Amino acid sequence: MKRIGIIGAMDLEVAQLKEWMQVKEIVTKASMDFYVGELGGRDAVVVRCGIGKVNAALCVQILADIFEVTHIINTGVAGSLNAALDIGDILISKDVLHHDVDVTIFGYQLGEVPQMGFREFQADEGMIDAAMAACREVNPGLHVRTGRVVSGDQFISDKEVKQRLITTFAGDCTEMEGASIAHSSYLNGIPFVIIRAISDKADDSAEMDYPTFEREAASHCAALVAHMLTLL
Ligand code: ADE
Repeated sequence: MKRIGIIGAMDLEVAQLKEWMQVKEIVTKASMDFYVGELGGRDAVVVRCGIGKVNAALCVQILADIFEVTHIINTGVAGSLNAALDIGDILISKDVLHHDVDVTIFGYQLGEVPQMGFREFQADEGMIDAAMAACREVNPGLHVRTGRVVSGDQFISDKEVKQRLITTFAGDCTEMEGASIAHSSYLNGIPFVIIRAISDKADDSAEMDYPTFEREAASHCAALVAHMLTLL
């Protein structure tokens, strides 16, 4: 029996999903409210984990241990690192890495967590395909592509830092939870995908109206995720 865990860092990233869901119970653990019920004809658990990698890792472990989820979807917004990804576009993770890990002194690649044996966490192919198909069906006007998510405990808003993430990691978008969700899912043997709508350009863009774009972007992702559940 499939049970899908859906994680958003902020309220606005999961609010719509909670509304659409038939909620059976709400369980609170580690100061997070886990909404357990049915969404898109599937058993699902929807949760706001809070911002950053520690919150996200804890949340995945609770989804694994207490709710025994079989799949994990992370939905939310991100800053673009790719000129081909504009505000409102959607990036589905092919792979994910930590941009703020540096153990190069011992011969590891920048971004590589020691003793893992690799740097990039691979998203599940079936979930990538379902997310792409769902996006084309519910948001046909939107530009969607697959690519690399790079995550760290930093909001990127400086063009030199942005350039470093592009040059060093070939990232397509940046946010603050994806790598932690990927890493924790990997350790628990749970397939995952990260779905992010672009809310900003991860630089000091003068024209940026972050709260407006953030709301619109989060709503695109919610529609996609709800439909994706029917395809899993
Ligand atoms: N989430 C949305 N935009 C972001 C950015 N520029 N940096 C980190 N996380 C983000």
